[in-house]
Amino acid sequence: MSELTPGMHIVELDRPWIESPFLFQGFLLETAEDIQMVQDVCRWVYVDVVEEEWQEYHGHQTITPQRRTMYVEKQDMAQQLTRANRTYQSTKHQIKYLLNTAYLGQAMSLEGAKEAVKDCVERVIHNPTAILWLTRLKHQDEYTAEHSVNVCLLAIALGREMDLAPYELENLGICGLMHDIGKMKVPPEILNKPDTLNPQEFAEMARHTVYARQLLMGRSDIYPGAVDVAYSHHERLDGKGYPRGIDSSKISLFTRIVTVADAYDAMTSRRCYSEGMSSTEALKIIHRHIGSQFDEEVARKFIAMIGLYPPGYLLEMTNGEVGIILSSDPGYSLKPKVIMVLGADKQPQPERIINLANAPQDDAGEFYKAAGVYRSGSFGVNINDYLEKGLRIKGFDYQMND
Ligand SMILES: [Fe+2]
Repeated sequence: MSELTPGMHIVELDRPWIESPFLFQGFLLETAEDIQMVQDVCRWVYVDVVEEEWQEYHGHQTITPQRRTMYVEKQDMAQQLTRANRTYQSTKHQIKYLLNTAYLGQAMSLEGAKEAVKDCVERVIHNPTAILWLTRLKHQDEYTAEHSVNVCLLAIALGREMDLAPYELENLGICGLMHDIGKMKVPPEILNKPDTLNPQEFAEMARHTVYARQLLMGRSDIYPGAVDVAYSHHERLDGKGYPRGIDSSKISLFTRIVTVADAYDAMTSRRCYSEGMSSTEALKIIHRHIGSQFDEEVARKFIAMIGLYPPGYLLEMTNGEVGIILSSDPGYSLKPKVIMVLGADKQPQPERIINLANAPQDDAGEFYKAAGVYRSGSFGVNINDYLEKGLRIKGFDYQMND
């Protein structure tokens, strides 16, 4: 372990990676701190020797790039959050219109939704962190609309990680936005039932996939893949899904992406029948069902994208202070920027930003250290309140409602 140096690629740990603080299978050691963190957690690790040799001997050769598209984040977070919020709200407005139209059985126009998704793609390309922040905003009474927007955004963000081109991201976004449109044909007393569904009710609920197919099938103005995704997003790789129980060879990449995004957002949402679980718990469940329910590459990329410190979650420090996770600098996903909102006594304190990558100290001169990640609503801190009132912080002024 003492031989570790910056630039080495860690490819395997001496323990299941999900039990470590590293949510990435394979990462680059960039700083002395990264090395220290690995040494704190592991007794031994595997390093990618091929990568090392390649760096040593082939550093100046021209090689075929492995990434199809390279997206670069280069704009400031304050501006991005304001713009992202506008996009989020207009996409929510569009899907509410579509859900309502489907419910009433009226003719629906998809033009507004397509424009909104185009906007979502642009925002995600520029700054996925800002848009992922907004997927944490949850209002229980608007579940279906917000879930549809969140799945759209999470799918686009994941597609971005998979280097899909912008036009592919637009198609994928439409698939995410429309995936649950069939729910509007399920009787409301079943859709909103707080108790467990009985077998007949479950069968009716499962039919939302078939209803979606019926709603979208005859339309020439929608990406054809959206019909397949809405019809197949509850299928499983092991053939135990519904409505058809098809095997993995018939499940498309877009369906695999939307399935993971759908499961994650549903698990982390508060519903009338459940509190919703933490991001880490949901990621562990996705990890546990790789191969049976979820595609391995898609799920692993998703877990790495969300990471251990997801924006919009609360972070309690070892000194008891609490903040809202804002973002992390590229290469520092384990050292996020945090808006501190509660003091050690859990009382509100003037908001200020700290960047854990800069090793900040608290009033007692101790280094801030992350202790635990919590869902919005814990400690009486609800991120909706902060966004809705507009957060004004020294050095980071932004107003969400302007
Ligand atoms: Fe669904």
